[in-house]
Amino acid sequence: MNHASLEIAAEDELRRQQDLRLRIFLCYSTPCVAAGADRVRKVLDELITEHTLAAELEIVATGCMGPCSRGPLLRLRHANGSESLYEQVEPEQARALLLEALDEPSSEGGTAQALALDMPFFARQTRIVLSNNSEIDPENLDHALARGSYGALSKVLQDMTPADVCAEITRSGLRGRGGGGYPAGVKWELVRKSPAERKYVVANGDEGDPGAYMDRTIMESDPHRLLESMAIAGYAVGAEQGYLYVRGEYPLAAARLVKAIKAAERRGLLGSRVLGSNFNFRVDLRVGAGAFVCGEETALMVSIMGRRGQPVPRPPYPAQSGLWGMPTLINNVETFANVAPIIAKGADWFASFGTEKSKGTKVFALCGEVVNSGLIEVPMGISLRDIVFDVGGGLPEEGRFKAAQTGGPSGGCIPADHLDTPVDYESLQQLGSIMGSGGLIVMNDRSCMPDVAKFFVEFCRDESCGKCVPCRVGTLEMYQIMERITKGSANMHDLELLEDLCDLVQETSLCGLGMTAPNPVHNTLQYFRDEYLAHIRDKHCPAGVCQLDHVPVLDMPEHASHLIIDREEL
Ligand SMILES: Cc1cc2nc3c(=O)[nH]c(=O)nc-3n(C[C@H](O)[C@H](O)[C@H](O)COP(=O)(O)O)c2cc1C
Ligand code: SF4
Ligand code: SF4
Ligand code: FES
Repeated sequence: MNHASLEIAAEDELRRQQDLRLRIFLCYSTPCVAAGADRVRKVLDELITEHTLAAELEIVATGCMGPCSRGPLLRLRHANGSESLYEQVEPEQARALLLEALDEPSSEGGTAQALALDMPFFARQTRIVLSNNSEIDPENLDHALARGSYGALSKVLQDMTPADVCAEITRSGLRGRGGGGYPAGVKWELVRKSPAERKYVVANGDEGDPGAYMDRTIMESDPHRLLESMAIAGYAVGAEQGYLYVRGEYPLAAARLVKAIKAAERRGLLGSRVLGSNFNFRVDLRVGAGAFVCGEETALMVSIMGRRGQPVPRPPYPAQSGLWGMPTLINNVETFANVAPIIAKGADWFASFGTEKSKGTKVFALCGEVVNSGLIEVPMGISLRDIVFDVGGGLPEEGRFKAAQTGGPSGGCIPADHLDTPVDYESLQQLGSIMGSGGLIVMNDRSCMPDVAKFFVEFCRDESCGKCVPCRVGTLEMYQIMERITKGSANMHDLELLEDLCDLVQETSLCGLGMTAPNPVHNTLQYFRDEYLAHIRDKHCPAGVCQLDHVPVLDMPEHASHLIIDREEL
């Protein structure tokens, strides 16, 4: 395929789609498949065969449409462009919907629940990263081409020098979505300028934060976006080899990426002489073995090289010395997913979304005590209140908002007083949390904050690779104190010890896992200290979550009070 035939293929596919009487979009990402999308698909396939309708309509098994807790989701688009969306669709309801759409109404099957396409959940979102998600079958390269995939790659190969590409990414203001928020263009430029005989590009799809599934969804729903963006990065920094590092627990993402790589190679979009140019770019997949620490960039690269995934000290940074000692560009999957649209539509277009220092959008996995949980993409700078109460539809029943946890095990809980904070890198950091990779858990007043902090400390204790003492021993000690607090056997000295320990682990650990493990404790102590004190002093869990060991309090006559021995004085 060359530049001209790429355009022709895209136009042909668009024409084919426009000629169809009906297009049926069925969400086929992991949560909807788990909710029964495969049974819906089977019934629809049978019906199409039965009625010999294959030439008039098609079923598009798409990536995630967003409101994952309402799956399976089904959208119908008629030739005149009118659309309707249905939630929690049962196989028989899907059959009835299809017959009705074909003017053969059936009384069987019952009516599926329609979802308004203009509800705030959709209306308040801005979709750049997820723009193709509910439009294409991720296993169909022509679908991706019809949405413009590989157009940005074609543009850079024809019209831009590597320096131009790096400058465009810098100008866009794109920052790393893997947690740190480092300016992507600066990193690209560093790798481009590092002289070496070989260079590498790595996409970090390890995504170990509990509850997070943004990167999984991107890989499952739009794999060609990722491959195209990696190839653009390869051209910009001077690399001919890319590696996609995917978490072992994501078999569907890995399978779709392998298929996408093969399809792109067959059509000359990856491999030797990409699109007929002199640029070569291969992508290989590496599957992790389930260690959270392998998401840390140095551990990830050690793992790609076939050794046990443990962090190594920086500097040197990967941009100077990464895979096999060569300059390596490593970016998060969502960071890459922004690249092709930036090149296609321009840095100014991208920079028109977001705030002064945080440009573009952010994908969040919104979950917890919220009506519309699922995958959302919102412009940077939107307030937390708008995310929770507009996009998320607020809390179910009478639950009162207590806090939103962002940033996973490296983050913190933002209390109700700060609901109007704009969601951007700097503002969240000022509140003692971080943007992180995009987990956002909404909590009501039945959540116990020391217990929440304990959960994350336990996670870090379990995931510590053990290489350095402060993290290996420190997270264990932190956990034991948290355990005493939530069981009601801690004293005030324990609290002091906990705070000292948090400072020590933060300051002396080798990698980000240890350095940030104390964040959830620090942050909950900052905003919810009274809850810690209630556990320690009153042996009481205000949220009613913790099973505290009951310590009976005796009524003492005033004159005998000197007999009480305060544990703190021991
Ligand atoms: C313990 C730990 C786990 C991490 N896990 C991930 C991860 O799963 N995905 C990711 O993109 N970055 C992760 N990071 C951050 C990476 O080290 C690195 O900063 C990132 O991949 C760079 O990409 P970006 O600049 O596009 O964000 C992790 C960092 C630490 C310390
Ligand atoms: S520190 Fe523990 S895990 Fe590591 S080699 Fe020694 S005994 Fe084995
Ligand atoms: S901080 Fe923890 S995870 Fe990182 S190297 Fe040290 S022991 Fe391993
Ligand atoms: S998986 Fe179907 S809507 Fe997210």
